[in-house]
Formats: sequence, structure tokens, C-alpha cells
Amino acid sequence: LVGEALRGHLEEVFLVSKVLPGHADRKGTVAACEGSLRRLRAERLDLYLLHWRGRWPLEETHAGFTDLMEAEKIRYWGVSNLDVADMVELTALPGGDAVVVDQVLYNLSRRGVEWDLLPWCREAGVTVMAYSPIEQGRLLKVEALGAVARALGATPAQVALAWVLTQGTAAIPRSGSPDHIREIRGAVDLHLPTEALDALDEAFPPPGGPTPLEIL
Ligand SMILES: NC(=O)c1ccc[n+]([C@@H]2O[C@H](COP(=O)([O-])OP(=O)(O)OC[C@H]3O[C@@H](n4cnc5c(N)ncnc54)[C@H](OP(=O)(O)O)[C@@H]3O)[C@@H](O)[C@H]2O)c1
Repeated sequence: LVGEALRGHLEEVFLVSKVLPGHADRKGTVAACEGSLRRLRAERLDLYLLHWRGRWPLEETHAGFTDLMEAEKIRYWGVSNLDVADMVELTALPGGDAVVVDQVLYNLSRRGVEWDLLPWCREAGVTVMAYSPIEQGRLLKVEALGAVARALGATPAQVALAWVLTQGTAAIPRSGSPDHIREIRGAVDLHLPTEALDALDEAFPPPGGPTPLEIL
């Protein structure tokens, strides 16, 4: 379906896919990517991620990513759901520091990564990509978020997304509704003043200590 939707539009998108941990040995990573490319009717992915850490050593997946880079089937590679210890292990591999992204659960109600993973990634030059940035819609019902949004003449989704971007992370909201997509786009232009950031910190406090990486 995505391949069909993308026909004639491949140049306009940043195409990302992930390899499942069960397929993530060297050969399996290459085969999984080639299968995705076939289904997407694309010659190259912009970014290919390990979905989460499974039974294969990181060396294996990294070797597969390297093969795919050399064959020009992917432009960049990264990971998802990896916490600091895993990132340290990955970047200690020869060539492992070429990782560009860690895609993790991050939004106003899930701020644990601010304690250690976010600073670590910032220092290492790894982009954090926030998945479920509006907590699958649940955040939008929180009154404190609604109050900040009303004061700014914006919507709760726009404030929640602008906040994620303010933290220096990328966000990948999902929507099947054209109206919601237009609303989401508005978040890019929304500036959050200090009073709004303070009100959000009060309603959704930052972590007070180390928190294991959460997943959805
Ligand atoms: N790496 C991982 O392990 C992992 C795990 C989970 C998710 N993800 C990825 O993260 C992306 C997004 O995550 P997600 O789908 O879990 O959560 P999300 O983007 O936080 O929320 C999606 C939900 O919010 C609704 N929504 C979107 N915009 C809205 C708006 N403006 N107003 C009201 N409702 C709105 C959508 O419904 P409508 O369709 O009706 O707009 C949908 O039900 C996906 O691409 C997913 O693949 C990755």
C-alpha cells in the first residue's frame, strides 16, 4: 500500500524502514531490506533502523547495514529502542559510531530519556527520533496541555509536537486524517515561549533520576 501511495513521489519523501530483531543477522538484515525495497518499489531507503535489540549480536546487524551502505541500498542506518548501555556498546564497534538515529518513545508524559539517553545522544551526534510523540492521542485529553494550547491559540497536538521539537529531537506523529496532518504541520511554526515551557514542566515534570527506557 505504501509503495503504491509513493509511486511518482519518492523524491519528495524521507523513506524509513526497520528490520525486525529476528531477521537482524548480517544476511537477514540485507534480505529484509531488499524485501522492503521491492514492496516499496524503491531503489534505496533514506534510513534503515534495527527495531529493537534481539538475539543477534549488534556486530551482525552492523555488518548487514554496512553491506547495504556499500551497495547503496540505504543512505543512513540507525537503531530504535536502544538505551545508553546498548548505544555505548554499539558505538564501540569499528564503524559503529556511524549510527545516526535512535528512535525511542518520547513525549511530554514519557520524559525518562532526558536523564541520560538524550544528553548522551546529543554529545555523540546521534539524532533522537521521538515515536508516539502525542502518546497515541492520549496526551490530547490532558487539561493542562489544553490550557497551554488555548493561551497560544494553538491545538494540544501542536503544542505537544512543538515541545518535542524544542528538545532538539525529531518527531514522527502518525495520522490517517488529512485535517490532522495539516494541524500537525502547524507545529513546526509554533514557538513556545518560556511561560508555556514552564507550565508544561509543572504539569509534566522532568525525571528526577535514571529511568529505564520505556517502550510502547
Ligand atoms: N520504534 C518503535 O518501536 C515504535 C513504536 C511505536 C510507534 N512507532 C512509530 O511512531 C509513529 C507514531 O506513533 P504512534 O502511531 O504510536 O502514536 P502517535 O503519533 O503519538 O499518535 C497517533 C494517533 O494520534 C492520532 N492523531 C494524530 N494527529 C492528531 C491530531 N492532530 N488530533 C487528534 N488526534 C491525532 C491519530 O489518529 P488519526 O489517524 O485519526 O489522526 C492516531 O490515532 C508511527 O510511525 C509508528 O510506526 C515506533
